Amino acid sequence: MFKKLDILDEKDKRLRLISKDVVFPLSKEEKDLIKQAIKHLTYSQIEEYSKKYDLRPGMGLAFPQLGINKRVIIIVHEVKENTFENYVFVNPVIISHSTEIIAAETGEGCLSVNREVEGHVPRYARITVEGFDENGNKISVRAREELSIAFQHEIDHLDGIMFYDRINKNKPFFNENEIRLI
Ligand code: NI
Repeated sequence: MFKKLDILDEKDKRLRLISKDVVFPLSKEEKDLIKQAIKHLTYSQIEEYSKKYDLRPGMGLAFPQLGINKRVIIIVHEVKENTFENYVFVNPVIISHSTEIIAAETGEGCLSVNREVEGHVPRYARITVEGFDENGNKISVRAREELSIAFQHEIDHLDGIMFYDRINKNKPFFNENEIRLI
């Protein structure tokens, strides 16, 4: 049966904590929560289910958004219509990044932020992330474009950073000559 996740709202101060590294093994509850998050994110991106269960579409979540201050992120990336690739990273670290900066043209959203926030969030166009899977095996991924943005957004949550912290208040919007908008 599908169970909707309880996601903290941005007003909750727990979102501002620095999360701790996970010590393996993960508990059964933590593994179950990861499964539930994958399902929630997947359903949220399929119109039929997002309507049925009243889910706001989102492609990523970090454990602190569920009230658990541990370094776990989950990303469900729609690679083509209704085809998804899942990423679960425990203790993720960005080990290298491009010099090129991009931003999502329409801005970013967050399942903890129940309002529209305007402005471009500068992000690295490409990153390499290392970490562990839920069983403690070392994993890495090279992410680009939208997926790169998603990883940076979720890893920020582990450090108590919200996406709008990165919007320049004096200059919230860039043009194509300044950074590449995707
Ligand atoms: Ni978020």
